[in-house]
Amino acid sequence: MSLKVAVQMDPIQRINVRGDSTFALLLEAQKRGHAIAYYTPDRLALSGNRLFATVETLSVRDVVGDHFTLQEPRRVELTAFDVLLLRQDPPFDLAYVTTTHLLERIHPRTLVVNDPVGVRNAPEKVFVTEFPDLMPPTLITRDLAEIKAFRAAHGDIVMKPLYGHGGGAVFRVTRDDLNFGSLYDMFAVTFREQWVVQKFLPAYKEGDKRIILVDGEFAGAVNRIPAADDLRSNMVRGGVATATDLTKREREICARLGPALRARGLLFVGIDVIGDFITEINVTSPTGIRAVQNVGGPDIAALIWDKIEGMRKKLA
Ligand SMILES: Nc1ncnc2c1ncn2[C@@H]1O[C@H](COP(=O)(O)OP(=O)(O)O)[C@@H](O)[C@H]1O
Ligand SMILES: [Mg+2]
Repeated sequence: MSLKVAVQMDPIQRINVRGDSTFALLLEAQKRGHAIAYYTPDRLALSGNRLFATVETLSVRDVVGDHFTLQEPRRVELTAFDVLLLRQDPPFDLAYVTTTHLLERIHPRTLVVNDPVGVRNAPEKVFVTEFPDLMPPTLITRDLAEIKAFRAAHGDIVMKPLYGHGGGAVFRVTRDDLNFGSLYDMFAVTFREQWVVQKFLPAYKEGDKRIILVDGEFAGAVNRIPAADDLRSNMVRGGVATATDLTKREREICARLGPALRARGLLFVGIDVIGDFITEINVTSPTGIRAVQNVGGPDIAALIWDKIEGMRKKLA
């Protein structure tokens, strides 16, 4: 089966060829003979109720410094595609949310992965609160009295932005940290949104495990160990990827989440687990495909395309 595939992503010129999950998906799509049309979110246009984009035919190569070729731009109606990969990176701001409203117009006639409604309704650090027994004690607020009470109850905490990513502005605040007041003020002026206050998990040292689920089923995992001098295990902050297996608890977590993810059309999801607790459910543009494979794990891009092709057959 050869599919017409469109990919909405950030500029392909700038991606990290070795680590990018979108790129892994594109390489696999090309290998299977699917035609790929590429565009960035700023090339979308809803005209009346018809959705267009100026796209360029894309071919990819797994070669650093020479990883893509684009053909000349053409304006097309997005209903012309069988599949659309929604793969732009955060920030998850109103521009992102608007994208989900626009793509909702063509889904599922054009199968959008992940389902734009599911993406919009499941911001990573909010969605997880639907599973309170699987997450650490967590507060989402900007109210000082609430945070003080939470601190009094839980001792050491972590404060981090609700729509942050890549470990940006993640702080540990100990029980008697005199900087808390200033940090609160800094958050209050920096962020318009509520933010996350979470019980500090000493298990951060053993790593933050990225577990990938494809259509609600466990597909692969990689552990990320933080550098000795940093709280954050994000690879962009010096975290090191290592091979890993799932614990019994992590298998339970996957089994619990699976049906909720499937029901929302969240085909490709990455959850993060620190010491038996989920801290985020990444649905916007999860990463980890290449990291899992680099530590000897399965070919998740192939699993995802198997699923997409199967779903497309059912829709046809
Ligand atoms: N509650 C916590 N306890 C200990 N460490 C944490 C906690 N929350 C986050 N961290 C550390 O900070 C890193 C980044 O936090 P995370 O919530 O994953 O935000 P981001 O979306 O920026 O990746 C985690 O990988 C982990 O190392
Ligand atoms: Mg994270």
